[in-house]
Amino acid sequence: MKHMFQALLLISLLVLSACQSMDDKTSSPSLYEQLGERSGIATIVEDLLYLIVEDDRINEQFAGIDVRQFHTNLTDQLCELSGGPCSYSGREMRESHADMNVTDTQFNALAENLILAMEDNNIPTGAQNRLIEKLVPLYPQIRNL
Ligand code: HEM
Repeated sequence: MKHMFQALLLISLLVLSACQSMDDKTSSPSLYEQLGERSGIATIVEDLLYLIVEDDRINEQFAGIDVRQFHTNLTDQLCELSGGPCSYSGREMRESHADMNVTDTQFNALAENLILAMEDNNIPTGAQNRLIEKLVPLYPQIRNL
């Protein structure tokens, strides 16, 4: 009888832990995962760069920049902000945008292009919003307020 009880207890524990690991697998993906991890973010940033070039509200500001460095740094920044295992090693936002006189229209234009780039990469709307939310605290630094 004691053995049967122990066997039952063992089975219940096994079932419980199986449920637990199933739960882990079905739990909702992180923002970083939803963005396609670092490689997905790198593609989004590449698409963003094409959109910037086409956008007369902001393209003049980007004339002559080191595109490769901008791509690497923005990818690392978005990777880190979305909870990924990256560390941004570029300059502070206030420093890199100083003297640019970024306007509200330009800030919004960049955010809009980022949303379009995410849309092109089939990122779910909820994840798009969560990434934009992470950028809001950078607004005063980029606008130099
Ligand atoms: C959410 C908004 C923005 C984010 C997250 C962002 C992020 C960044 C990052 C990470 C860099 C690289 C910094 C470095 O290499 O040290 C950068 C550089 C730059 N950003 Fe932004 N930025 C934003 C908005 C804007 C806007 C609105 C403009 C202008 C219209 C702008 C113009 C530039 C330019 C021209 C550079 C290159 C500076 C240089 O290499 O000298 N950014 N930005």
